Amino acid sequence: MRVLVIGSGAREHALVLALRRDPAVSAIVAAPGNAGIAQHAQVRPVDPSSGESVAALAREAAADLVVIGPEVPLVLGVADAVRAAGIACFGPSAAAARIEGSKAFAKDVMAAAGVRTAHSEIVDTPAELDAALDRFGPTWVVKDDGLAAGKGVVVTPDRSDARGHAAELLEQGHPVLLESFLDGPEVSLFCLVDGETVVPLLPAQDHKRVGDGDTGPNTGGMGAYTPLPWLPGSAVEQIVDEVVAPVAAELVRRGDSFSGLLYAGLAMGEAGPAVVEFNCRFGDPETQAVLSLLESPLGELLYATATGTLADVPAPRWRGGSAVTVVLAAEYYPARPRSGDVITGAGDAATDDAATVLHAGTALRADGALISAGGRVLSIVGTGADLVAAREAAYDRLAGIKLTGGHYRSDIGLAAVEGRIGL
Ligand code: GLY
Repeated sequence: MRVLVIGSGAREHALVLALRRDPAVSAIVAAPGNAGIAQHAQVRPVDPSSGESVAALAREAAADLVVIGPEVPLVLGVADAVRAAGIACFGPSAAAARIEGSKAFAKDVMAAAGVRTAHSEIVDTPAELDAALDRFGPTWVVKDDGLAAGKGVVVTPDRSDARGHAAELLEQGHPVLLESFLDGPEVSLFCLVDGETVVPLLPAQDHKRVGDGDTGPNTGGMGAYTPLPWLPGSAVEQIVDEVVAPVAAELVRRGDSFSGLLYAGLAMGEAGPAVVEFNCRFGDPETQAVLSLLESPLGELLYATATGTLADVPAPRWRGGSAVTVVLAAEYYPARPRSGDVITGAGDAATDDAATVLHAGTALRADGALISAGGRVLSIVGTGADLVAAREAAYDRLAGIKLTGGHYRSDIGLAAVEGRIGL
């Protein structure tokens, strides 16, 4: 099977490495890729948001399967264009991708499916803002009602901070979503979904704030770990039964059947799981950890999802133990990340050692030096017999990597190790 992977982040690097472990995958092309992905796949330029260009590249590469990593192409209908060209595609249609692209659509689907989620209101004009803010709090959740890569979200006990963020979004012409705050530890559950067939992967937890102890602004994600030692064994089945399966069924009922990866971001409150957000693709940085523990052939799972035969393939098998992703970010990320700094010690990612270095915002300078080229620069994935060992593997590997101004959280998975998180 020949596979074309669309995207350029550490998530796509993880997808490429997992696909390489599948004996049925004979060739991988990645577009546009990055300096690390280029070590493991043929890399080609493409405008990932152009369905026409992606479909043309897929034909040229004789791809049997196209895997679309990021949300923007999916929301823009790139998967539809690939399927229209007669090529199997892992990723939902534009209509189904609204589950991430339009928070209002997602809320409507959840209401119809009877799925627990935060109470919310959309604010379109500054004149409505103060009265709407008065109906929420004391913790305010303010979101950009569109795609903002996690950075459009502010969660704050300070009303004036909430007001400031909402006013800024409205000034930029973006409708604002106000939500009630959901209590409980967060879980990311990725499910392969093909119509009404739902196959969960390992549950993971993201760390969205930039600083240790969940301080500072939200980011695209600074680290993750899997599985979650504090989550009861029955929780995944409960999330599938109460959240993902009803939403998948509701999308089928509407004629917007989902095919691809449905990512449920949940708060595990006293009343059970409640949805913080849905995403229409693999999450970053959780994917890097989750796929490092996958034993089953990834190509087979993605191809089956894309061709409507997910129910016929064996359930995913997992290595025992734990995995931790730690993100190394550029100076001034997330506000104004600086590019062009030299990275040393990243080495070759193609190892099966306890730690793997995955590239995101990297590029090669004309003289061959590896330099930063984005906010989240590298994902270091450590694996081990348990979370303590996986953390140690990731942080030991990170200690050998140098990036001027680079920063990372030192507490990924630590609350779970220290028993400070639970239901
Ligand atoms: N882990 C956050 C995201 O992928 O959106």
